[in-house]
Amino acid sequence: MKKYLIALLTLCGFMGSHAAWAQTEGSPWFAKMQAMDSSQLTLLIILAIILGVIVLLLVLMIYLMSFMSSVLRKENPETANEPSGWETFKERFVTGKMDPVGQEGHKVMADHSYDGITELDNFMPPWLQYVFIGSVIIAAAYFVNYSVLGTGPTQIEEYEEELKIEAIAAAERNANAKAGIDETTVVFDESAGALAAGKTIFEGNCAACHAQDGGGGVGPNFTDEYWIHGGSIKDVFKVVKYGVVEKGMVPWEEQLTPEEIQQVSSYILTFKGKTAAVPKEPQGDLYSASPAPAAVEAPVTDSTTVIATVE
Ligand code: HEC
Repeated sequence: MKKYLIALLTLCGFMGSHAAWAQTEGSPWFAKMQAMDSSQLTLLIILAIILGVIVLLLVLMIYLMSFMSSVLRKENPETANEPSGWETFKERFVTGKMDPVGQEGHKVMADHSYDGITELDNFMPPWLQYVFIGSVIIAAAYFVNYSVLGTGPTQIEEYEEELKIEAIAAAERNANAKAGIDETTVVFDESAGALAAGKTIFEGNCAACHAQDGGGGVGPNFTDEYWIHGGSIKDVFKVVKYGVVEKGMVPWEEQLTPEEIQQVSSYILTFKGKTAAVPKEPQGDLYSASPAPAAVEAPVTDSTTVIATVE
């Protein structure tokens, strides 16, 4: 039993060190474990415990069986001299037929004697023979697969395959991050690609009410610094997403993806300071990016003076 215990401890030690090593490598299974939520982890732990109990029971069963067979053999004198199943197995597959000590004279290689220590010319033990034959067969199959037929992937192909998988995973992560944009996480995206996409969305969906150049019409003017619902990217995103239905501003949540709402909101913010052809009078409150809560001015009604004062 002590032997089993040592084997078990060694196994645990190996697995522990493997886990520590895997952590530094960032191996995928460890990342997957970290990504699990608590219910999944509980399930995993329960499964591991059940598996452990099964293994323990198996070990116990084998131990009991060997104990019982030795007891039976002691009780039955006629079977006592017969080799046990384990001994037959050992002779066939592990050690081979061993000559009893002192009777191996014909195998002594007298010319291989060093200080009186002679060597026995024993046959290769069966297990080593099987390993040897197995490795020859595997080598042949490997050679045919990789060098003759060329069906097995080379290291470079495997590497490229991994790169592809990583690229797909990265694109997925990116898409998830973009699908998760909301009014609390949205940021002003000033990249040319995002603004161009925003422009297309604006001209296709919003220009009818807000004018091609943002000057306003049914909807408010975006070229001034006055906003009804706030001029930060988060405010704009929120209005675009949920709309102001009672005032005629459509909610775009259903038609546009979060990323598209971010793009069009970013594009809207670039109108500020531009001169619109037919600017609508400012509506709402003067908005400045700096936190100045008292900057609530009465809306100026003369649009031309407003355009002139906006830098
Ligand atoms: C059917 C006409 C109409 C369309 C189409 C429309 N809007 Fe509006 N929008 C309005 C109206 C009307 C308001 C003013 C709401 C209010 O008074 O609260 C408004 C307000 C806004 C505001 C808030 C302005 C402020 O001063 O706070 C933003 C931002 C906005 N719209 C963006 C968009 C975007 C982006 C689109 C296209 C995806 C769009 N709108 C399409 C009519 C429209």
